[in-house]
Amino acid sequence: MVKVGIIGCGNIARFHYEGYEKAGAQITHVCDIRQEAATALAQRYGAKASTDYRAVLADPNVDLVSILTFGSTHLEIGLAAVAAGKAVVCEKTLTDGPAASATLARAAAQARTFFATGYMKRYFPAAQQAKKLLAGMGPLVSIHARTWQPFPGLFEQPLPEWEWLRQRPSPVIRNYGGGVLVCGGSHILDLLHWFAGRPLRVSGQMRFRPELDFDIQANALLAYENDAVAHLECCWHSLRFAGYERKGWDERLEINTTDGRLDFYTVKWDEPEKNGALLVHQDAVTGTTTEYRYPAVNPFHLEMAEMLRRYEAGEAPEPSAWDGYVVDETIAAITTSAREKRTVEMCWQDR
Ligand SMILES: NC(=O)c1ccc[n+]([C@@H]2O[C@H](COP(=O)([O-])OP(=O)(O)OC[C@H]3O[C@@H](n4cnc5c(N)ncnc54)[C@H](O)[C@@H]3O)[C@@H](O)[C@H]2O)c1
Repeated sequence: MVKVGIIGCGNIARFHYEGYEKAGAQITHVCDIRQEAATALAQRYGAKASTDYRAVLADPNVDLVSILTFGSTHLEIGLAAVAAGKAVVCEKTLTDGPAASATLARAAAQARTFFATGYMKRYFPAAQQAKKLLAGMGPLVSIHARTWQPFPGLFEQPLPEWEWLRQRPSPVIRNYGGGVLVCGGSHILDLLHWFAGRPLRVSGQMRFRPELDFDIQANALLAYENDAVAHLECCWHSLRFAGYERKGWDERLEINTTDGRLDFYTVKWDEPEKNGALLVHQDAVTGTTTEYRYPAVNPFHLEMAEMLRRYEAGEAPEPSAWDGYVVDETIAAITTSAREKRTVEMCWQDR
């Protein structure tokens, strides 16, 4: 039985510990700088509680840790976990920038540490099926990828009187390191990387407001080999009924190849038990259209089960630390392109 340590007991933690619990792992040590958060979770599992992550890493009763703290802390905690010989599942984004992510991925590779980045959307059954189908659909032509997430108020004139909006740095920057591109776009960039490979160059445009310190809209054109292209749209919008679930969550990828089209619709990330993700396959060769409707499953739970399976089987994790680095490098390129109003040629630090 794999023994798991949880570092960071905030919003995302329940998706990890419930996933590990369902998959038969044992939570043996939990940590948060907020003592009460660590103690409450420790009681649930009869686990140890700490306020210093180093206690978890020094615990011989821990094989694998989930790092669920803010992105700005992932480099320090991740390097310490690698040095301590623990396997790691690190929430996205891998760190707060590509240089730090490359450092972390390199350290994990050199130490041969099992080190995963938590982009769980790959684990929707619809995403897995899309990946399988794509392998037989001929060369990629284009992808239109959208993550429009409901966040009413941010386009209002004037802005709502929320005190947190005026804090500097705002909690969005302090906790996540960026606005909609980092928070929502990162997941889509991971899916684009998984489906299409690494882009050759990117052109980005981002919307900021002078009263805010984070982006509320980000668009990019990503160019791939053989003239394939992806268009990415991210927005924190006010459309209450948009999207496949008609509740404002509007996230989808339309993937076009020479032999057909896949339409993949995700469901709201923190309510995955309400609806299943949807995949529609139009086969241009046979003329048939197939809808794949899946039961509502939590992709985090499937992710944790697969992480444990791979760890125990001695297989590499997916997505890996290097996959996390690719997303962070692409985010940085889109941001530079938008700021400097030029196309950015991608330059990968692991090649
Ligand atoms: N996969 C997803 O869809 C998804 C969704 C939300 C958040 N996330 C990611 O999860 C991570 C955490 O986000 P969250 O929303 O849970 O934030 P949160 O603020 O709710 O929780 C973070 C927790 O970490 C604790 N913490 C901070 N520094 C610490 C340290 N040095 N040692 C121990 N504990 C520490 C905080 O006290 C807090 O309880 C971020 O990297 C975020 O990007 C991923």
